[in-house]
Amino acid sequence: MKKPLASSFLQLLLYMRPFRRIYLSATLYSFLNKLFDLMPEILLGIAVNTVVAREQSWLANLGFCDLKIQLILLGLMTMVAYGLESLSEYLFSIRWWNLAQIVQHNFRMQAFEHVQKSTITSFSKQKTGNLLSILNDDINQLERFLEEGIDKIIEVIGTSIFVGSIFFFLAPQIAIFVVIPIPIIIYSTFRFQKKLSPYYLNIREKAGLVGAFLANSLLGLLATKSLVAEQLEKKKLEKASMAYKDASFNAIRWGALLVPIIRFVILSGILVTLIYGGKLTIEQKLDVGVYSILIFLTQRLLWPFTEIADIMINFQRVMASTQRLLNLFELPTENSPDNIVPIKGRITFDDVSFSYHNHTPSLHNLTFATEPGQHIAFVGATGAGKSTLLHLLLGFYLPTSGKIFFDNKEIRELSLPGLRKQLGFVSQEPFLFEGTIAENISYGYVEATPEQIIEAAKNAAAHEFIMRLPEGYDTIIGERGQNLSGGQKQRLAIARAIVRNPTILILDEATSSVDNATELAIQRSLSKIGQGRTMILIAHRLSMVKHADKIFVLKKGSIAEQGTHEELLQHDNVYANLWKLQMGETLTHPELIID
Ligand SMILES: Nc1ncnc2c1ncn2[C@@H]1O[C@H](COP(=O)(O)OP(=O)(O)OP(=O)(O)O)[C@@H](O)[C@H]1O
Ligand SMILES: [Mg+2]
Repeated sequence: MKKPLASSFLQLLLYMRPFRRIYLSATLYSFLNKLFDLMPEILLGIAVNTVVAREQSWLANLGFCDLKIQLILLGLMTMVAYGLESLSEYLFSIRWWNLAQIVQHNFRMQAFEHVQKSTITSFSKQKTGNLLSILNDDINQLERFLEEGIDKIIEVIGTSIFVGSIFFFLAPQIAIFVVIPIPIIIYSTFRFQKKLSPYYLNIREKAGLVGAFLANSLLGLLATKSLVAEQLEKKKLEKASMAYKDASFNAIRWGALLVPIIRFVILSGILVTLIYGGKLTIEQKLDVGVYSILIFLTQRLLWPFTEIADIMINFQRVMASTQRLLNLFELPTENSPDNIVPIKGRITFDDVSFSYHNHTPSLHNLTFATEPGQHIAFVGATGAGKSTLLHLLLGFYLPTSGKIFFDNKEIRELSLPGLRKQLGFVSQEPFLFEGTIAENISYGYVEATPEQIIEAAKNAAAHEFIMRLPEGYDTIIGERGQNLSGGQKQRLAIARAIVRNPTILILDEATSSVDNATELAIQRSLSKIGQGRTMILIAHRLSMVKHADKIFVLKKGSIAEQGTHEELLQHDNVYANLWKLQMGETLTHPELIID
């Protein structure tokens, strides 16, 4: 995954290609600005030449013999130089700032969209906090780099080129000594940069881990409090934070070495100009004005170069961020053919096996089929693979072997968003979003009318409790629906699944947190709204599934038995024993349901 710095930068440029007009003109104005920035030094040299050489000065040679006019001219040129410098600074600043804003916005949107499209397998390998830190911090680093950092790099390059050229033009014999240090500095910086690169990637990774830990820990704050594990969490944060600190420290230690070295190398250039240039001037081989310009300019060279360490460090940091961001775009995405096919509700599993991350298989050779409009149920011990089966049905994961068909189309050939639009899924752990109740019910189906929302809530036995809330359907339910009880959340999740009038309704333990009376109410309305649509039910409470057309008993990822409630009761097998257990009767074969 590790890429060299230059390649990250090239990739960044490639990414910014659509905005190249902005960054090319910004680069041009930045360069011009560095040129205008050197003008005052040159004008100072001309001023020295004017007052020392008077009638033989450069200005006099150009035809401006009057000393007064010479001074006025100098003043005017200084004003023009400063004016141009300010103007070019304004022009490059707004362009870089513009680019920074466009790029950060586009990068964030595209990265977010990519994460949304990524497969659950690749997504679940990422830590949420780390993704957060990429989408926030790393993009902000890039934004700051474009706003300020890149101009600093141009300053180093531009100043070296301009100062070097002026030196060669005015005094080639000194120029050699001043220009020689430049490649030495650049070489040593590159050597350092190679050394620093992994340190900075390490810093970004450690920062990501801190973010990941914080996000996770804050989500579990209630559990931490109830288990009095505050100290433990603090220690974990301390560990992550210290790792970040150490990573930064390592990088700073090396980075800080660079400045003194560079200063020393530049000093040699200044000394040569001062001493050798002074000697030439005394021997009248060099004009006093030229000597002044050279002295001023070597100083000007020193300034950006002492900053080169910071610039490099910043560049490292930003490229590490860019690399993390670009790596995000390499997460595999769900295949999504564009063919949104309406489905009728026939589901076929053909010898489907599945294992998560190459672990022991969670599903073994499942083969079954439902007709459109049939209601089927899956029961079985916890960990038997019921939710896994539904995750395959929703296309969250692809089977390790075997095939899943909707009508006669294999799931791989279908557009997953297109398919999911036709499925109403209530997951075992429903997730509600910050917002009102109505917004949560119509989530993903914004075209729902208020009447449809109320109808769905009634069918989910939720209307009454909603009406008792202070703001009714406009009540805000807080982050993740934290202002609601478990059973209330489940009923909203059911309403959300049925409001979209799905062809296939899938309920995974959707009533596990409601009381028996509410469950009965939900069951009744489900049998009404379930008419004419395929329904897949998963429930531990068998009363929920006993009316299904077909019940499958899953055991360790395989179908152990199947049939209607009555048929299954006739065999003294897993289902019959589970039923007896729930009815409070004596078990004939407890070993069938207890491992
Ligand atoms: N994301 C995952 N990564 C790895 N293994 C998983 C994952 N989700 C589930 N498993 C494993 O797959 C097996 C089946 O889990 P699944 O959630 O399908 O069981 P279940 O029948 O729904 O159980 P329950 O009744 O408790 O909800 C279990 O052994 C579980 O450990
Ligand atoms: Mg489950």
